[in-house]
Amino acid sequence: MTESWSGAAPARHFSLENSTAYAAWRDLRLANQPPSLADLIVEVERIDALSDKEHAALMDRIRRCNFAVYAERHPVPGRDDKNALRALGLRFGLTSLDCNTLADEDGVTPLSVHRDGPRSRYIPYTERPIAWHTDGYYNHPPRQVRALTLHCASPAAEGGANRLMDYELLYIMLRDEDPAHIAALTREDAMTIPGNDEDGIVRAATPGPVFWFDNDGRLAMRYTARARNVEWNADPAVQRAAAAIRRILDDPSAPVFQGRLEAGQGLVSNNVLHTREPFRDDPAHPRLLYRARYHDRIAGS
Ligand SMILES: [Fe+2]
Repeated sequence: MTESWSGAAPARHFSLENSTAYAAWRDLRLANQPPSLADLIVEVERIDALSDKEHAALMDRIRRCNFAVYAERHPVPGRDDKNALRALGLRFGLTSLDCNTLADEDGVTPLSVHRDGPRSRYIPYTERPIAWHTDGYYNHPPRQVRALTLHCASPAAEGGANRLMDYELLYIMLRDEDPAHIAALTREDAMTIPGNDEDGIVRAATPGPVFWFDNDGRLAMRYTARARNVEWNADPAVQRAAAAIRRILDDPSAPVFQGRLEAGQGLVSNNVLHTREPFRDDPAHPRLLYRARYHDRIAGS
């Protein structure tokens, strides 16, 4: 089990020394951005039996911005949505489920409002908003969350949308503003997540970078905007870079998608940055989403 953050050298375009490769990758990435959330939604028959065409359509979106949204055409009565979500993950090469102590034993977590009991103390199980983050930002290196899927069985009575942003787009905005931001954010002591966080997992503090590179040299990100969940390195370069992230994400003109998952819709993603807006739950028709987190990145993305 490795405790190191960096798998391999970054892909050529992520090297700060290679501005030519970066410019070519950047221009292609910006040119291929989907113009609206509607362009990211793919209608499918059933997520547990995707056709090749449906899979290809979702992959096309994922390659362009690290996520896609599916919308099942018809509800599937009596289906086990947890099994269906796992089957969907397998179709995208996702096998390494991240199990936390609050997940059901099979690693797929039902998210609903808990008004009492142990889960009620943690934000995901309340109606409160969740600030910008990537999932599992507090995990240690061998268990970093690279992919995230969500399936909506039943939306909230009101609200509960997600805002979503591709972390590669954020990387571009930061590097274009000042490459020193990238140098600061790839430092292995850039930020520390203190032990014991809102998900109720007992664990040691996790120091590490914001951006790092996996075994294929691909970019990955860990982040939370929740100030009490993170200690930033006091170095002025890191402080400036962290402030730049906050400024970009809070800017109303940021390239952010916002939408609400309705029943039968879901997200397939390489753990992109996201929020959850506040909502109102109706106990007679409670909000229910299923969430799966994986240590793999989506195959072929
Ligand atoms: Fe999340």
